[in-house]
Amino acid sequence: MQKKNILVTGGAGFIGSHLVRKLLSEGVWRVSVIDNFNDFYSPQIKRKNIEQFAGSPDLSVIEADIRDTAALRDTFSKVSPEVIVHLAAMAGVRPSLKDPKLYTEVNVDGTVNLLHLAREFEVRQFIFGSSSSVYGENAKVPFSEEDNVRNPISPYAATKAAGELLCHTFSHLYDIRTVCLRFFTVYGAAQRPDLAIHKFSKLITEGRPIPVFGDGTTRRDYTYVDDILQGVRAAIDFEGSKYEIFNLGESQTVELNELIKLLEENLGKKAVIDRQPMQPGDVPQTFADISKAKDLLGYSPKTKISEGIPKFTDWFKSQM
Ligand SMILES: NC(=O)c1ccc[n+]([C@@H]2O[C@H](COP(=O)([O-])OP(=O)(O)OC[C@H]3O[C@@H](n4cnc5c(N)ncnc54)[C@H](O)[C@@H]3O)[C@@H](O)[C@H]2O)c1
Repeated sequence: MQKKNILVTGGAGFIGSHLVRKLLSEGVWRVSVIDNFNDFYSPQIKRKNIEQFAGSPDLSVIEADIRDTAALRDTFSKVSPEVIVHLAAMAGVRPSLKDPKLYTEVNVDGTVNLLHLAREFEVRQFIFGSSSSVYGENAKVPFSEEDNVRNPISPYAATKAAGELLCHTFSHLYDIRTVCLRFFTVYGAAQRPDLAIHKFSKLITEGRPIPVFGDGTTRRDYTYVDDILQGVRAAIDFEGSKYEIFNLGESQTVELNELIKLLEENLGKKAVIDRQPMQPGDVPQTFADISKAKDLLGYSPKTKISEGIPKFTDWFKSQM
């Protein structure tokens, strides 16, 4: 059987490496990863994420930057991808306020580079890893794909909204099917160390104070990584219209105070709270309306926070 070529950008990262595992396990894909192993967090973690698949004959890892058009062209020539799952990005809301130019160069220019080559190399399907942050301070809950996303409140969010618009443009002009997936705070084994669940677990375990921004009543729709994978996998096979946007969340919001309590219970240790003012760029709540993803992708998230946090803390403890 002829295997299909898929290119995963950012495949050494948290979500990307989970996706690589899933694709390899299906046995029908030749998976190519592009990642620049940058130091947004330890590159060693990213190398470890991907090295676990080193023996697979169906995986090739290309260390390259999506801003480098020559390296990208070379990769496309070698790989001939039918599908691209574009997850490479400068992630993180707060750091984007410090270096907005880097965020636009990677997240906007890098996305255009990929779309441009997708057109030239006649890629069938382009999946874009977008973010719930595009909804900004949307007061209406749950957030629907129909809602206004013209008021992002961080450079990171603006780059993701721009990425979605560019996906639309290329899809319209060149008939590439593009699917934008708005991920709502993703967690699970190998979660990025800068994200709250992972960061708090480390600090609580070490007996150090956890910075809590605001009064702890901010709410997030935390999504377990296996559920995100289910949505990404369905998007790869999606055969509907040429351009769609889907929310991928758990559709269950959790207050920050409640999250901390869950972590305390599962780590067996009380948190020391270091109360801080709300941070610029942070949104007060996220909450996904997932009815569209349910209808058109068959998306059906399974992991409630009460089940997902023990899975995360089991993994976390196994790393110590
Ligand atoms: N984790 C979440 O909660 C979440 C939520 C919403 C959206 N997203 C989006 O999902 C995607 C994956 O997120 P993640 O949490 O796995 O992040 P991650 O940082 O673990 O993964 C991103 C990967 O992209 C790579 N990368 C960054 N810049 C690059 C460049 N210029 N060239 C090549 N590779 C580059 C990084 O080295 C990293 O391995 C990102 O696009 C992110 O914005 C994540």
